[in-house]
Amino acid sequence: MESQIIAFCLLAMACTLAMAFEPSPLQDFCVADYTSSARVNGLPCLDSKLAQAEHFTYSGLHLAGNTSNPLGFSVTPVTVAQLPGLNTLGIALVRFDYAPWGIAPLHVHPRATEIITVLEGSIQVGFVTSNPDNKLLSKVLQKGDVFIFPMGLVHFQRNVGNGNAVSISALSSQNPGIVIVASSVFGSVPGIDDDVLTKAFQVDKSTIDNLKARF
Ligand SMILES: *[C@@H]1O[C@H](CO)[C@@H](O)[C@H](O)[C@H]1NC(C)=O
Repeated sequence: MESQIIAFCLLAMACTLAMAFEPSPLQDFCVADYTSSARVNGLPCLDSKLAQAEHFTYSGLHLAGNTSNPLGFSVTPVTVAQLPGLNTLGIALVRFDYAPWGIAPLHVHPRATEIITVLEGSIQVGFVTSNPDNKLLSKVLQKGDVFIFPMGLVHFQRNVGNGNAVSISALSSQNPGIVIVASSVFGSVPGIDDDVLTKAFQVDKSTIDNLKARF
């Protein structure tokens, strides 16, 4: 009986893991038809006979993003929203620009593992393992170094130099999604009740209100 329960649990875990990745394509490609009103998992396909090289092309990743903001950070995404040929293919690319000491704030990609490579500068990266360990794995990367943020874990990047920094990441989803921790917790609409947040963070209401006012 016990071994049956264990076998069932393993099977359930395997199914959950399999479901965490994007389904395999059933055709060569499925160029996204942004104009379709159909609601499906992903985007509906253009007639494949209408596919053009332009549907598989994005230009502009050589251009630096604007980092004149409080984070000193900019994201230039190339997901299915910018590149229709990515639809159903389970991959995307992003360019990050960092002002000196700029940061990518703590965030999670709910649908993708990320592999980052530094093109310019020195970038500290880190992610935190899930409960109960909550272990921070962090490192300073130099130009040419690569690091992985496993799917669904909270992570960050920080330019630890006095010059600009640039990195590029590939992500294992056409639509990785982003959950910014501070915005989700303190900037939700409508706001999460103070009672929930004061108990969750073990601080007083004024601290919560102060944080809510910023996000
Ligand atoms: C960069 O962003 C800032 C703040 O939004 C804006 O004032 C500035 O004009 C932008 N610079 C460029 C070159 O677009």
